[in-house]
Amino acid sequence: MLEAKVIVVTGGAGLLGREFAKAIALQRGTAILADVALASAEAALADLLKLAPKSKSTAYAVDITQPESVEALVGETIKRYGRIDGLVNAAYPRTPNYAPNHGRQFFDVEYGDFCANIDAHLGGYFLTCQRFSKAMSRTGGGSIVNIASIYGVIAPRFEIYEGTSMTMPVEYAVIKAGIIQLTRYLAKLLKGTGVRVNSVSPGGIEDGQPAVFLENYRRHCQTKGMLDRTDISGTLIYLLSDWSAFVTGQNIVVDDGFTL
Ligand SMILES: NC(=O)c1ccc[n+]([C@@H]2O[C@H](COP(=O)([O-])OP(=O)(O)OC[C@H]3O[C@@H](n4cnc5c(N)ncnc54)[C@H](O)[C@@H]3O)[C@@H](O)[C@H]2O)c1
Repeated sequence: MLEAKVIVVTGGAGLLGREFAKAIALQRGTAILADVALASAEAALADLLKLAPKSKSTAYAVDITQPESVEALVGETIKRYGRIDGLVNAAYPRTPNYAPNHGRQFFDVEYGDFCANIDAHLGGYFLTCQRFSKAMSRTGGGSIVNIASIYGVIAPRFEIYEGTSMTMPVEYAVIKAGIIQLTRYLAKLLKGTGVRVNSVSPGGIEDGQPAVFLENYRRHCQTKGMLDRTDISGTLIYLLSDWSAFVTGQNIVVDDGFTL
C-alpha cells in the first residue's frame, strides 16, 4: 500500500513509533525513524530490517522542539530520498515531573510543568507540521498523520483510575485536543497543495499497567479493552496510503469502543 513512499516517523523509537515504522516497511514504504534517542531508533531500525531486509529505511536523530533540528531532518530526507510523502508525528516529549502512568493530580500540577509540556508536545507537533507541510507541498503533496488520543476527544473517565496512583493528566488532555484542532486547521489551510492532514486517536495501549486499571478500562470496551501496540497500524497505513486520497482534516478514533 505504500510502495515507493518515503515516510518520516517522529518518535520512531517509541512504543507506537517503532511499530508504525515496521508496518510502513512491510507495506514497501521507506520509514525514517526520527527520534531524540538515536541509539533506540537504531535498535528499532535493526528490528525492522529483520522483518524487511530489503528496506531502505534509516534512523535519524531529531529533537522536534528545535527548529534547526527539524529543518535538518527535512533537508537530509530530501537530499537522501528526493522527496517526502508522509510524516507521522508519534514523538512524546514530556518533562521529568510528568509521565503517562503517573502524571500529577490536577491540584498538584506546577504551572511551569503545564506550560513546558504544552510547549514541547503541542509546540513540537506544530513545528514538524509547519516545516514538513511546506517541504511536501513543494514535492507534490503527501499525508501527515498526527497521533492524538481519545482524551483529546472526551472528558477523562477518572473513575477507571480508582485504586491506582494513575490519573489522566490535564496537560495531556489539553495537548491532545490541541493536536486534533491543529490537524483540522492545517488540513483546511493546505487547500490546493496536495498535502492531507489527519489525526489518529488511539485508546490506551497495554504496557504493564496495574490489573485493576486494565479491568476497569475493559468494562467500557466492546471486545478487547486496552489495545496492543500493533493495533493502531492498520488505520495509520490507510491514512498514509492513496486509499485515503480524499480524506483530510479527520480524526479517526481507534479504541475498541471505549469512547462510545
Ligand atoms: N501509549 C499509549 O497508551 C498511547 C495512547 C494514545 C496515544 N498515544 C500517543 O502516541 C504517541 C506515541 O506514544 P508512545 O506510547 O509510543 O510513547 P513513547 O514514550 O513510548 O515513545 C515516544 C518517543 O518519542 C521520543 N521523543 C521524546 N521527546 C522527543 C523529542 N523532543 N523529539 C523527538 N523525539 C522525542 C522518545 O525518545 C520516544 O522514543 C504519543 O503522541 C502519545 O501521546 C499513546
